[in-house]
Amino acid sequence: MTITYKDAEGIAGMRVAGRLASELLDYLTPFVQPGITTNELDRLADAYTTTVQGAISAPLNYAPSGHNPYPKAICTSINHQVCHGIPNDKPLKRGDIVNVDVTVIKDGWHGDSSRMFIVGETSVAARRLCALTHEAMWRGIVKVRAGAFLGDIGHAIQQFAEGQGLSVVREFCGHGIGRKFHEEPQVLHYGRPGTLDQLKAGMTITIEPMLNAGRRDVKEMGDGWTIVTKDRSLSAQWEHTVLVTETGYEVLTLSTGSPPIPAFVKPA
Ligand code: MF3
Ligand code: CO
Ligand code: CO
Repeated sequence: MTITYKDAEGIAGMRVAGRLASELLDYLTPFVQPGITTNELDRLADAYTTTVQGAISAPLNYAPSGHNPYPKAICTSINHQVCHGIPNDKPLKRGDIVNVDVTVIKDGWHGDSSRMFIVGETSVAARRLCALTHEAMWRGIVKVRAGAFLGDIGHAIQQFAEGQGLSVVREFCGHGIGRKFHEEPQVLHYGRPGTLDQLKAGMTITIEPMLNAGRRDVKEMGDGWTIVTKDRSLSAQWEHTVLVTETGYEVLTLSTGSPPIPAFVKPA
């Protein structure tokens, strides 16, 4: 597979899909409370995507090679779960931190975004992990412009995360995105400045760092999807879909409910 570059029509399609993904997270936000099950969130998400947005839940039956088809419309990864948690009938409880990762397909274009949610109230350490992972994502996003290197993004995220005493998961990365859910290139969340491929205008990529409070090592659970930290330490993730422009970037997965952009980010 190769990198795809979006023309004006593709960019317009990606803007719509990105906005819908973010609006889906906005819609789910008030439901993320103690007592709700992740299966209930999954059903709410799929109904909103299909009925209100006229879109498709990309994760449902998604079957990359080596995987059984993903059985749900969203991913919900709780506490020491790193990513790809499968919704189930267990209620969320006060103090949990949960990543909700949504991807919608609208007119053939994919929008992919995730946020962390705090269920009720949680510990200082858990709040700090969620906030610093959000900042780490933005430390990567601001490196995006035509001519920048993929290694610049990874380095910015890794340097910030490790400087805060957090570890960066290596086994999963951001990705190109467009008419396909996962396209080239891989967008690593660690690396060296000036290395790997250079970005070009018209590329659309995701930046989705997974940061652990403990060691970076992860393992897959027996369901074939859920990834957890080996040391059972807390893990957090945020994700945006981003368009590369000549002078910088455009974050496509923003909406009224997006959390505030960190102060160090210069207005586009
Ligand atoms: N949304 C995830 C990502 O950010 C991918 C989930 S694949 C699924 O790339 F099958 F688990 F949904
Ligand atoms: Co993604
Ligand atoms: Co995602």
